[in-house]
Amino acid sequence: MIVPKQSVRNMRPYSPPTQGRGGKIRLDFNENTVGCSPRVLAAVTQALTEENVAMYPEYSEARTEIAKFLGVADDQLTFTNGTDEAIQLLINTFFEPGDELVTLSPSYAMYRFYAEVAGVRVTEVAYQIEDDLVFPLQSLTKMITSTTRGVFIANPNNPTGRAISVDDVVTILEHSPRTIFLLDEAYVEFSQISVLPLLDRYPNLFISRTFSKAFGMAGLRCGCLVSSAENIAWARRAQSPYSVNALAVAAACAAVGDIEFVANYVHEVVNARQMVQDALTRYGLRWFLSDGNFLLFDAGSRKQQILDQMKSAGILIRDRSHEIDGCVRVTIGTIDQMKLFITEMEKAI
Ligand SMILES: Cc1ncc(COP(=O)(O)O)c(C=O)c1O
Repeated sequence: MIVPKQSVRNMRPYSPPTQGRGGKIRLDFNENTVGCSPRVLAAVTQALTEENVAMYPEYSEARTEIAKFLGVADDQLTFTNGTDEAIQLLINTFFEPGDELVTLSPSYAMYRFYAEVAGVRVTEVAYQIEDDLVFPLQSLTKMITSTTRGVFIANPNNPTGRAISVDDVVTILEHSPRTIFLLDEAYVEFSQISVLPLLDRYPNLFISRTFSKAFGMAGLRCGCLVSSAENIAWARRAQSPYSVNALAVAAACAAVGDIEFVANYVHEVVNARQMVQDALTRYGLRWFLSDGNFLLFDAGSRKQQILDQMKSAGILIRDRSHEIDGCVRVTIGTIDQMKLFITEMEKAI
């Protein structure tokens, strides 16, 4: 056996239930539950030529397209293999082993994951159940010191659901002008709260975006990291020149060309979320406000009953009780899908 480096030996295993999901009602990974726009599929088919498959991908035209969509300059953006590569890239580019990263808990697991691989120390600030899992702004600002290298925040946060306001982000940025801030806007299409307009004012701000969620392209692995041109130039120095494949960037361009598709999906999800909230209220279950395409609720003593019932009906949801006692997270899909979920909830309860 070859012994891995110390930081990897120290890691806790992370193994989300990623296998055997095909053909089920997937309310477990916050994907788009109906898939991508037909225009995306057409663009992928069109891009599937011998030349494109044989050739290393080129990004400059696509970068111009996506930068225009986001309202930033081309050199303020680099494509990444999903948000996950954006997180890894930030750590690889800007953090030394032993540096401190502050994140929230619970939040997206990959912040801790890539930090631990790199030997970066992670400090977590906990969302409090007594405060309805509201963003712990004061505790967070208290925790950020002059030696904190970076702070990674998902906005809206997964799995708790709520987004923080642009004003709250400004408060944090003003508090620590020398700390690196990542605002992970994976669910921004649902929350409609973005800090992109702050980029010009804060040179320590990074924003990640993904095509995995509302755009329905999780299988293609495409996202991007956005910041000042100088920051992005450093990040690109530490990045593989070909980390995103040619079909993924072709798909991303088609995706931003069909914003109506996303707007319709978001509209349906918001209505379906309300329907699920109403149902949970009827069952007397506590749920937590969400600005994303998912809802966290406290199933309490009925948690196992609910998980078993969903499993037998072929509906995948996520047990989050290891993070917040008794809690389960359900991805919100279409009205019809959520009616199926509610029917099974009724049977379970
Ligand atoms: C907050 C957050 N960021 C990023 C991701 C993953 O994004 P990607 O598929 O772009 O790597 C997720 C997925 O669950 C998430 O919840």
